[in-house]
Amino acid sequence: MTSVDPVALVHRDQSPEVAARFARIYARPVILEVDQLCRRFAGEQGEVTALQDIAFRTHRRELMCVIGPSGCGKSTLARVLAGLDEPSAGQVLLDGQPVRGPGPDRGMVFQGYTLFPWRTVLQNVMFGLEVRGRDRAAAESEALEWVEIVGLSKFADAYPYQLSGGMKQRVAIARALANRPRILLMDEPFAALDAQTRAQMQGYLLELWRQIDITIVFITHDLEEAVYLADRIVVLGTNPGHVREIVEVPLLRPRPREIIVDPRFVATKRYLESLIHSDPPEPELRPRIRMTQIGDEVD
Ligand SMILES: Nc1ncnc2c1ncn2[C@@H]1O[C@H](COP(=O)(O)OP(=O)(O)O)[C@@H](O)[C@H]1O
Ligand SMILES: [Mg+2]
Repeated sequence: MTSVDPVALVHRDQSPEVAARFARIYARPVILEVDQLCRRFAGEQGEVTALQDIAFRTHRRELMCVIGPSGCGKSTLARVLAGLDEPSAGQVLLDGQPVRGPGPDRGMVFQGYTLFPWRTVLQNVMFGLEVRGRDRAAAESEALEWVEIVGLSKFADAYPYQLSGGMKQRVAIARALANRPRILLMDEPFAALDAQTRAQMQGYLLELWRQIDITIVFITHDLEEAVYLADRIVVLGTNPGHVREIVEVPLLRPRPREIIVDPRFVATKRYLESLIHSDPPEPELRPRIRMTQIGDEVD
């Protein structure tokens, strides 16, 4: 491992309030336990290990982020947690019970807009309730509450094509939450949004999370997003995907947007950068052609 920039180590210097907050989080029950999870795929050149011995626990009402470079297995992890894919070894426990297949106890929001284009906002949010056999009137009034919670009452009868990207993701969040999941799994949900909308959605997600009893696992490759949102960050490395470290974010809540210039915010981000960049580069990414001679490097 490369040496860590001393500024980055400031992230370990927690205030007593932050330390007390983590003690409270750890005293809460474990909702999600990922236990020595491995996922291997049969590839053309033999077996590929996407995830190797992934282990972490998420406590009730914790907001946990998972970061790592592209290809480190983040989406594979999301699919296994969701029950859309199976581990090759190890297991995932939700409230102590092994996850087997998808279920209403896990809500999902992915990057691409996964709304049904032929359904209105309200009908999209009603979907899970209908599937679970709720009668139409009850499903409609419950879905309407969720549409209100995400601030889209005026758009209840609009179709997805009439909405902005941020609004579509709010519908996706409402649809996931309407099923009253134990955990909300989000795989790069804001990655396709412009910077300003993305910042708004982050603030908005925190506000929503504060109001309802939900545990969130939020996957992103954006370090700033992770520091802004998370209680703790699971940092994954590549080849094979493994947990490098689980980092506690030394910031209190609520977090105003200006917190991104707080020295502890900056330090945490720098520390994450140092962790991610100390991954050995992929052999094919190493430059093969040298266009300069030793001694004529520019600075
Ligand atoms: N269905 C699959 N079959 C074969 N390999 C896969 C499959 N899904 C993912 N992988 C491989 O697993 C690794 C992790 O992929 P992924 O989980 O998408 O990473 P990330 O989301 O972090 O970018 C990659 O090397 C990818 O090629
Ligand atoms: Mg991915």
